[in-house]
Amino acid sequence: MSEKKEISFWINGKKRSFDVSADEKLIDLLRREGFKSVKFGCGEATCGSCTVIMDGRAILSCVLYAFQADGRDVWTVEGVGDFDRPHPFQTALAEEGAVQCGFCIPGMVMSAKAMFDTIPVPNDEVMKEMMDGNLCRCTGYEKIWTALYKVREQNEQGNSPDSNQ
Ligand code: FES
Ligand code: FES
Repeated sequence: MSEKKEISFWINGKKRSFDVSADEKLIDLLRREGFKSVKFGCGEATCGSCTVIMDGRAILSCVLYAFQADGRDVWTVEGVGDFDRPHPFQTALAEEGAVQCGFCIPGMVMSAKAMFDTIPVPNDEVMKEMMDGNLCRCTGYEKIWTALYKVREQNEQGNSPDSNQ
């Protein structure tokens, strides 16, 4: 068994400490600690289902070691929005009927949040670049993109991209 080391980081706005081994991936730490929104898809940085936000940027938690989160600020969907206080993109996804099996959605939400927090009104090129790594096997993307356009339009009209943080 490999030796464990204590690390601390902010998770969804709360400072927590965890014992991790040198080879533990961030996704495994997050899921064992109950952040089950973080989904394991490919495990090799190609599907985006494990996307979380670290220090304001969307990152793939399946290829990052847990110890690399030490001292960082990490967010998962659990801290971004729920039924009572959804993120605007979650609202738009629901309104557009954009969710089928739902497996890809947490990763989509985190990538979209990172994008809209940084660039509230991104152009199509930026949107494509920022969302490119998030794959969906069910929907054909059309309604997901309609939801993204809806949030962009809301931001353009001056509505706050309420991040619920
Ligand atoms: S599980 Fe991380 S990119 Fe697919
Ligand atoms: S809704 Fe099923 S993978 Fe996207």
